[in-house]
Order: sequence, then C-alpha cells, then structure tokens
Amino acid sequence: MDIKQLEAILGDEDDVISRMANISAFVYENLADINWIGFYIVRGDVLKVGPFQGKVACSNIPKGKGVCGTAWERLETIVVPDTHQFEGHIACDPVSRSEVVIPIFDEKGDMYAELDVDSPLLNRFSKKEVEFLTAVSLLVQK
Ligand code: SME
Repeated sequence: MDIKQLEAILGDEDDVISRMANISAFVYENLADINWIGFYIVRGDVLKVGPFQGKVACSNIPKGKGVCGTAWERLETIVVPDTHQFEGHIACDPVSRSEVVIPIFDEKGDMYAELDVDSPLLNRFSKKEVEFLTAVSLLVQK
C-alpha cells in the first residue's frame, strides 16, 4: 500500500471528515488482515466515533477507558499485540485480536482525534506498520 496513492486520492480536499472517510475506505481495502479502521473525534469529555470501515463500533469512549481512552489520557500511540491482555479493552468486534491507536493533534498541539486500526491477527502491527499508519494519521492533522 502506497501513501502517495492515498495522497493523490485525497487531493486538495480540505474537509477533515471527508478526508477521514476516504482514508478509512482506502486503508480498509488495501491493508491486509484488518477488520476495522476509523477515527475517533474528541467531543468535550468523550471520544465520538467518526468515519470508519468495519463493524458497528461504540460511539462514546471516555478518557482513560479502553485502548482509545488510554491513548487520549497518555497522549501517545498505543500498540496492543494481544487485545485479551489489555485490561479494559473495549471489544466492539470480538474478532479483533491486536490493535493500534494513534493520537492526532491540532495546530495548537491539542489532541483532537485518533486513528484506530484493529486486526483479527495477534501482533499484526510491526514497528514499520505503525510508522506507516502514523504517516496516514498525519494526513488529517489540522
Ligand atoms: N478497541 C477500542 C474500542 C474501539 S473499537 O476497536 C472500534 C478500545 O478498546 O478503545
């Protein structure tokens, strides 16, 4: 999967929700062995589910809850090689066995969204893959 191709698809679209929607669709179709990809967006004191591909997901995640809420609390990327070993993991789709959540920051340096990618495989996300997905997340950095 080539990030240049994704950049070309997004073009000069300046609406962040539209960008998130097409990023989700493109990555879902082109990255092997993932069952969910999407964005969570900060709305007050919860994360609301944003554009995504995959099964229906929980729409409200408070700070500190699950992988997404923990990444928000810590303001850092979290890679979960085995979701069964992550205390408090929110199993929207029980098929998910590994996961990565990457915070996305606005121009002031505040986290305003997250990229969340789930796989049915254990330990799906290598360092290289996380670097790639971080580059993908920067495509919606404000
Ligand atoms: N697994 C996440 C919840 C969102 S779903 O993966 C779509 C978590 O524990 O934060």
